[in-house]
Amino acid sequence: MSGLLEPVITAEELARRTAQLGAEISERYRGQDLLVVGVLKGAFMFLADLVRHISIPAHVDFVRVSSYGADVKPGELKFVQDLDSPCKGRHVLVVEDIVDTGNSMSMLLAELSQRGAASVRLCALIDKVERRKTQVTVDFPGFRLAKGFLVGYGLDFAEDYRCLPGVYELIQQEGP
Ligand code: IMP
Ligand code: MG
Repeated sequence: MSGLLEPVITAEELARRTAQLGAEISERYRGQDLLVVGVLKGAFMFLADLVRHISIPAHVDFVRVSSYGADVKPGELKFVQDLDSPCKGRHVLVVEDIVDTGNSMSMLLAELSQRGAASVRLCALIDKVERRKTQVTVDFPGFRLAKGFLVGYGLDFAEDYRCLPGVYELIQQEGP
């Protein structure tokens, strides 16, 4: 199986939108204790660019979660890596690469609320609204896209393509 890459979002468009989101987030959280939580691995590049445009003091932490696999029951979320920081009383902004069915983010946001966060909001680079199975509000959406399997700018297919500076649709082709 080989793949064809079709450009979807250029590096310039990503930079422009990330700057807008950073400004919006800075306004929303001014004067509040902000904890930015990146969801590994997919959000690493987006988060690194986004926080450079957050002009208020913020702390950064990371989680790595899995909502599928042999050792995870349906409807459960496994923390492969949990936060170092406490959430209690803090304003938590989760930064995710793509919200697709919404299953993993609905569970993560609920868990962080349960830990006593003052607020839990979600910023996602890409919101695939049409694919939603579990209701999740993306408070700060980067781009709303319908479908297609996307790679680049942190997004992977079997760990490939993460380092591309833009977002591409991966079109699978049957090999000869
Ligand atoms: P869901 O919203 O629980 O279905 O899971 C979304 C997760 O699936 C994202 O955080 C990505 O890691 C992954 N994912 C969904 N769509 C894509 C895609 O188009 N490219 C790469 N990863 C994707
Ligand atoms: Mg992810």
